[in-house]
Parts: sequence; C-alpha cells; structure tokens
Amino acid sequence: MRLFRMSESGQSTLVEEPAPTPGTGQVLVRVHASSLNARDLFMLDGRYPVPPGRVPLSDAAGVVEAIGPGVTRFEVGDRVLNSFHPTWFGGPQRTPGPAYHTDLDGWLAEYVVIDQQGLVSMPAHLDFAEAATLPCAAVTAWSAVAGAGPGDTVLVQGSGGVSLFALQLARAAGARVIATTSSEKKAVRLLDLGASDVINYVSTPDWGRQVRELTDGRGADVIVEVGGAGTIAQSIAAVAYRGVISLTGNVAPATTGLDIVDLLYAQVTLRVIGGGSRSDLEDMNRVIAAHKLRPVIDRVFPFEEALDAASYLASGAHFGKVVISH
Ligand SMILES: NC(=O)c1ccc[n+]([C@@H]2O[C@H](COP(=O)([O-])OP(=O)(O)OC[C@H]3O[C@@H](n4cnc5c(N)ncnc54)[C@H](OP(=O)(O)O)[C@@H]3O)[C@@H](O)[C@H]2O)c1
Repeated sequence: MRLFRMSESGQSTLVEEPAPTPGTGQVLVRVHASSLNARDLFMLDGRYPVPPGRVPLSDAAGVVEAIGPGVTRFEVGDRVLNSFHPTWFGGPQRTPGPAYHTDLDGWLAEYVVIDQQGLVSMPAHLDFAEAATLPCAAVTAWSAVAGAGPGDTVLVQGSGGVSLFALQLARAAGARVIATTSSEKKAVRLLDLGASDVINYVSTPDWGRQVRELTDGRGADVIVEVGGAGTIAQSIAAVAYRGVISLTGNVAPATTGLDIVDLLYAQVTLRVIGGGSRSDLEDMNRVIAAHKLRPVIDRVFPFEEALDAASYLASGAHFGKVVISH
C-alpha cells in the first residue's frame, strides 16, 4: 500500500509498505478520503514538532476491509470515519490523550489498522469525502455552538472548516448566524448557507460594533472565536452580556491590547474548546443525518498531491474543507 510518512527533516514523503493486519479488537480500514485541518499545516511545515516516521493527518473515512478477533462494533463492508480523539469516548476529558500525527500514526495511507473503539459509523447520506471532514473541524464546531438555539445569535469568524460547520449546526439548532469574512465572494456564499448578515472584517475592522447594531444592541450570544489573539478584542465588543466566547483557534495571532476588565464587565464565559469525544461525534452525526446537512468541500486533491492540498489550504483561498481522495 501507499502512504505518507514524515521524514527526519520534517518533510512528508510518499512510501510503499505492506498493508497491516488487524489484531484482537482491531479493524482494517480501506481509507477512501482524508481531510486537512489548520493543525496539519503546523505539523507539515515543522512549526509543531512531530517525531520522524509518523503518518500525517487526523481525519478520514473509509470501508471496513477486515476485522480482527473480538471485534463487535463493525462488520466487513461498514462505512466508517474516525473519532479525532482515539481514546476519549465521552464525558469530560480529564487528561490530554494521544493524538494522530503527533503521538500516533495518522490517516494519510491507503489502509489503516485501528482499535474498533476509535471508529464510528458514517451518516448514511454522506459520501466518503464529506464524512472525512467531520472528525476535527465539525466536532469542534459542535462543541463551540453547544447550547445555542432559537432566539440566540451565533457569530462565526471567516469561512474555514470550523466556521462553516458552526454556521450549519447553529442554523440547524434554530439560531441566527452572523458571519465575518475577508472576501466579498465568500460573503455571498455565507449568505447562501444561511447567515443572516456578513461583515467584511478587513473593511470593517471594528466589526464588534456592527454585530451589536445588527442585534439591537444585545450582541451575539455565542461567538466561535477562530482568530484568537487578533480578534478576541472585537469578540468582546460583539458578545452579549453573559454570553459565551468559544475559543477554538488562533489563525489571527496579532496582539490586541486586550483589556480583561472588558471581559469582567461583560460577564463573559470564555469556553476553550478541545474538539470533542466519540460520543460528541455520534451525537453530532445524528443531527447531521436528521437535517441532511452536507459538509462544504472546496476542493478534492488526488492522494499523490496531498502536499499540494496542504499548500492550497495554507493559501487561505479555500471556502470550507480541503479533502484528499485515496
Ligand atoms: N480547539 C480545537 O479543538 C480546534 C479544532 C479545529 C481547529 N482549531 C483551530 O481553529 C482555527 C480554524 O481552523 P480551521 O480548520 O477552520 O481553519 P481554516 O479552514 O484554515 O480556516 C481559516 C479561516 O480563518 C479565517 N480568518 C483568518 N484570519 C481571520 C481574521 N482575522 N478574522 C476572522 N477570520 C479570519 C479565514 O476566513 P476568510 O477567508 O473567510 O477570511 C480562513 O479561511 C485554527 O486556528 C485551528 O488550529 C482548533
């Protein structure tokens, strides 16, 4: 089989190896698609140290090709995707567990052997490319918008993977969604996906005030914060009294001169998100199936061009997810 492994110099290289065999409790997955996240870029370009030899990527979907002794969760032929956290099954995560690409071999391979507990069934209406986008970005969005419902306003920042899933899931929950983006073209697509209003954060750098105007002075009840240090001051300006800022990322790492007193006055809950458990993934998949939600895929690259896919994600041109077909 073909797979990519990280070399000593931090490069990812296409290699050939025999396909693995499943042991007790394990499943052999024929991987059909994987997807990229901002996290993968930090690892592929050496910003985040990864032991040499690791197989990259955390998200994939495929078919169960073979099962080892004692497997009860799946049968040969089942369509599956992986949980982002292979050992966090539900409830609060008390200690950080192992992660793909850093601590364990990931999914940029034609076949993967994995413990049956690390997989869930695919929502029936999705294809492999769509299902492969769910483990990291969608579950993070699910955790970030938790609690929002009818009457609430959710603010999503930009049009990357996490933000578009947050938009779709918040709309499915009955909430209003206001989005920000850097591009007028992407603004049109955000409106098509169900945003009530879109603010260009480049031409309107004090977008927090505009969110307040759009909500009759109340502000957004939940903010899905992907910008981090570069955007959180505007998020505090935009958030409703006793609202929630779900801090997921730091794609805009500039400093802000953040005044903590602003947080105190607003009585804000700063909810730091670390993806979600297998149980969160299963709950989210039920909602995705019930509402027939379809992940937004920007582009699918062939397996051999996985590194081009990463460069494309790094360019920021994408709207939604970048996928690799195996
Ligand atoms: N905590 C967790 O468990 C977790 C899980 C997944 C991801 N994350 C983090 O969440 C962040 C987003 O991940 P992703 O996979 O969705 O990334 P992504 O697909 O690469 O999307 C990044 C998007 O951010 C937007 N953006 C950039 N600068 C911005 C700014 N100043 N204000 C508002 N939006 C801005 C851009 O949207 P436009 O092109 O529309 O401007 C861009 O498309 C990353 O930092 C990632 O590491 C965390």
